[in-house]
Amino acid sequence: MSIPPAIPPSQLRLSVAPMMDWTDTHCRAFHRVLAPHARLYTEMVHANAVIHGDRAKLLAMDPAEHPVALQLGGSEPDLLAQAAAIGAAHGFDEINLNCGCPSDRVQAGRFGACLMREPTLVAASVAAMVAACNVPVTVKCRLGVDDDHDWDHFLAFIDTVAAGGCRMFVVHARNAWLKGLSPKENREVPPLRYDWAWRLKQERPQLQVIVNGGIATSEEATAHLAHADGAMLGRAAYHDPYLLHALDAAWFGGPTRTRAQLLQAYRPYVEAQLARGVSLKHITRHILGLFAGERGGRAFRQVLSEGAHKPGADWSLVERALALTESFSTSDPQAA
Ligand SMILES: Cc1cc2nc3c(=O)[nH]c(=O)nc-3n(C[C@H](O)[C@H](O)[C@H](O)COP(=O)(O)O)c2cc1C
Repeated sequence: MSIPPAIPPSQLRLSVAPMMDWTDTHCRAFHRVLAPHARLYTEMVHANAVIHGDRAKLLAMDPAEHPVALQLGGSEPDLLAQAAAIGAAHGFDEINLNCGCPSDRVQAGRFGACLMREPTLVAASVAAMVAACNVPVTVKCRLGVDDDHDWDHFLAFIDTVAAGGCRMFVVHARNAWLKGLSPKENREVPPLRYDWAWRLKQERPQLQVIVNGGIATSEEATAHLAHADGAMLGRAAYHDPYLLHALDAAWFGGPTRTRAQLLQAYRPYVEAQLARGVSLKHITRHILGLFAGERGGRAFRQVLSEGAHKPGADWSLVERALALTESFSTSDPQAA
């Protein structure tokens, strides 16, 4: 069996979860500005799409995004291996296999969370991917599916997959319920059990374990570092991206910049994309939460949402939205 390279521990502490329709290349470029040390993940791309689809679009990635992982969906070792090789050749720093998504579409294709029931197949897939590429192959999983709440069963899944060559696991610390819950409910209803992710790190210290699920504040994220190798934030990072900046500055000791400074730092990327013909709306939809909870945050969102789709919308719209956040009077309680 080939031995995959390990991920440097400093690159594991903070990461942004793979999120379909959200963590596209524009979003990741924005998160990189906010959090220079975070590990970033693409949306899930099915192995077949990587092999046969429009790679320029599906695998779009800016060099500034590194370190960035490509998340794959699929359950056929040969296809996953081909897709992993393509992803690594494309420059991705890690190939991550989705064993946690519960959607009906995913269940029909027998991948995502259903794979928690097929550890041998996951191990074979990981081994094939490890053999096909020269970057770490990792797995994002749940604790179990449906009413399977057996620690030994979970550990057996991890051990089997680790034997296939996976050293790093992102544990979305709740079960996936394959019947009766929507994907959204599956991110909220099954109870979180962080203690399982922590126990995994305790019992398998040679593995790298990242905790994911429901982490909403700096304090919560920081608490995980005492028990695991890192914290992965999804919705909180997307809806309140300044949290990423605060965490990166606190954990890695960089300067704390204002929201306005961060926005200006994103400007060269945005202007380069506009010059390539990308519409502003595809970029600004990811920055709407930058002033979440701040005075003028609602106006910032509104100006961008209403103006970004108009023909010719350019950076001046962002400046206008930003100016509103700076002009709000401190006495206006409706402003946030
Ligand atoms: C809009 C959206 C899309 C998601 N798409 C994916 C995906 O493509 N792959 C995946 O592994 N998880 C996906 N997830 C799950 C997240 O990666 C994460 O595990 C989950 O949201 C829990 O973390 P959080 O509570 O920090 O958001 C998605 C979540 C959201 C909200």
